[in-house]
Amino acid sequence: MPTRAEVSYFGAGPAPLPTHVLEAGAKAFVNFEDSGLSLAEISHRSPTATKILADTKQALISLLDIPDNYEVLFMHGGGSAEFSAVVFNMVAVWIEKRRRMAEKEFGDDQGAILRKVKQDVQHDMQLDYLVTGSWSLKASQEAANLLEPLTPNAINVATDARDSNGKFGSIPSDEKWSLSSSKRSAFVYYCDNETVDGVEFPGFPSGVEAQPGEEERLVIADMSSNFLSRPVDVQKHAVIFGGAQKNIGITDITLLIVRKDLLTTVPTPSFLHQVGMFSPPVVLNWSVVAKNNSLYNTMPIFSIWIAGEVMRSLLATYGITKLKGQEGFSDAKARTIYQMIDWYPQVFQPVVELNARSRMNICFRVKDPETEKEFLDGAKKLNLLGLNGHRSVGGVRASNYNAVPMQNVRKLTTYMEEFADRNP
Ligand SMILES: Cc1ncc(COP(=O)(O)O)c(C=O)c1O
Repeated sequence: MPTRAEVSYFGAGPAPLPTHVLEAGAKAFVNFEDSGLSLAEISHRSPTATKILADTKQALISLLDIPDNYEVLFMHGGGSAEFSAVVFNMVAVWIEKRRRMAEKEFGDDQGAILRKVKQDVQHDMQLDYLVTGSWSLKASQEAANLLEPLTPNAINVATDARDSNGKFGSIPSDEKWSLSSSKRSAFVYYCDNETVDGVEFPGFPSGVEAQPGEEERLVIADMSSNFLSRPVDVQKHAVIFGGAQKNIGITDITLLIVRKDLLTTVPTPSFLHQVGMFSPPVVLNWSVVAKNNSLYNTMPIFSIWIAGEVMRSLLATYGITKLKGQEGFSDAKARTIYQMIDWYPQVFQPVVELNARSRMNICFRVKDPETEKEFLDGAKKLNLLGLNGHRSVGGVRASNYNAVPMQNVRKLTTYMEEFADRNP
C-alpha cells in the first residue's frame, strides 16, 4: 500500500491537489471550523456558504486580475455543460443585438422587427469555432447538435487542425483560418489547452481579434485544463470557462468569467421563440445565475471552498508575481519532460508540433506498441501513475498540472532516461 508521498500522479483530470488542501478539506468535510457541521451539510444560503462563495470569487479575481466589468459565476455540469450554455446564451446575445438594430430601423413596428430578426437568424448568424483538438471538436459538435434543426448553416469551423494530416497535433496559422465576417459572427470559440491531444495555444490567439474598422468579435475560451497555470488577458475575452477538476479543485463546479454587458443583452424568451430560437435552460442561463449570485439552485459549497483554498495557496506561494510565478514553475516542469523526450528521439516520439506543445498535457509515443506497453507497465511498478494516453488516442500522456511537484517530474524523467538507455 503506497503512501501519498510515494505516488507520483500524472492523471489528466481529476488531477492531483496540494496535500495540505486535501488535509484541510478532510477536516472541513467532517467539522468545518469547529462548527459541528460538515461543509457538505450546511445550507448553500447560510452566511457561512455566502462567505465561502465571496472569498473564492475574490481569490479568482485577485489571481487573474479580473476587471470590474466582468462577473464570476459558479456553474453546474462541468465543462461539457458550457459547450451547450455558450450556444444558448451567445445566440441570445446576438439576437438581442439584431433586435435592437431592427428597433432603430422600424421603430415600434413589432411585425417588421420580428420579420427582420427572423431573416437575420436564418441567413446571417454564424458561430465560429477553431477546432484544434478533441474538446473544441466536441464543443462545435454540440453547437451543431443544438442548431442543426433550427438554422442548419450557422456553424462555421474556421479551422480544423486535422486538415493537413488527419490528426490533431498542431495549430494551423491564423492566415489559414476562415472566420466569418465580424458582423455575422456571434462569437469565436477556442480551447486554450486540448487535454486529450496535448495541444496548447502558446498565448492569446491574436487571429481572433477584430481588425481595425470591424465590429468587435466576442471571444470564448475553454480553459478547463490550463486555468491558473499562467496569466490571462481577461479583457480580450467575452467569456472564459473551465471545470475545476484540473488546476483549481475537485469536480462539481465550473468557473465562468463573463463580461457583464452580455448578461443584460438578453431578449425575452417569447421573442426568442417567435424568431424560431430556443431560450436558455434555466440552470445554464448565465443572466439568471448571475442575478442569483450563483445560487439559483443548490451549489456544492465544499467544492467551492476547496477551489478557494487552492487559489489562496497560489496567492500565498507566488505573492505579487501571482500567475506569472506559477507560469515559470509550470514551464520549468514541462521543459524537463520535453527535454527528455527530445534527448532520446530513437525511443520517444513527441506527437505535437513544437509551437503547439502543451505545458499541461505532455503527449508522446514510445517507439513501438510492445515497448510502449512495457514503458507504461514499468512506470506503474514505480508508482508513476496516470500516464496512459486518452483512450481515443493511446500513447503516453504526462499531465503536469499545478500541484504536480518538480520532484515527481524528476522521478518520471529519471525513469524515462533509464528506460531509454535500456532500449536503445
Ligand atoms: C479542455 C476540456 N474541456 C472540457 C472538458 C469537459 O469537462 P467535463 O468533464 O467537466 O464536462 C474537459 C474534460 O476533461 C477538458 O479537458
